[in-house]
Amino acid sequence: MDKPIFLIGFMGSGKTTLGRKLANQLQKKFIDLDHLIVDRVGMSIPEYFEKHGEEQFRILESQVLKEHGGLDVVLSTGGGSPCYFDNMDWILANGLAVYLQMTPRALHARLQQSKIANRPALKGLRGEALLQFIEDKLGQRESFYKRAQLHIDQLNTSVDALSQAIA
Ligand code: S3P
Repeated sequence: MDKPIFLIGFMGSGKTTLGRKLANQLQKKFIDLDHLIVDRVGMSIPEYFEKHGEEQFRILESQVLKEHGGLDVVLSTGGGSPCYFDNMDWILANGLAVYLQMTPRALHARLQQSKIANRPALKGLRGEALLQFIEDKLGQRESFYKRAQLHIDQLNTSVDALSQAIA
């Protein structure tokens, strides 16, 4: 397949971890959109948000995403990537989108841990406030994510099963 496989889903749904494993299994190159942006701008995502604001981040994110049509890669997107501009249309037209589906509670359990500091959207959120945020944000974003050609139950799908579903 000379089209990218795009992993999409909420923050903490495991796009990077699964993407790396899937790329390994399929013997494809792995790209993480957030890491690519960090390398490009020479600062962390929280620093970029702080300095240039979310709007600039979304413009940059969309540009960097759209540099990856026609490549034989597995690409993990950022949690917001499919939900801005025409990014989801572009993803569907240029590759295979896989939605890593998880409930707000499962996302909450994962995001409780060490994963908040590097995610500006979650800054200062804990406990019930974090769960409420996840429920609201996922509610806004799910209609984008659900347009993916393939949906997987992230907690109960093995890399083997996913690579078979893709093949
Ligand atoms: C964001 C998700 C992050 C990163 C940025 C914004 C979001 O990526 O792109 O912090 O708005 O959901 P991950 O989904 O990899 O955490």
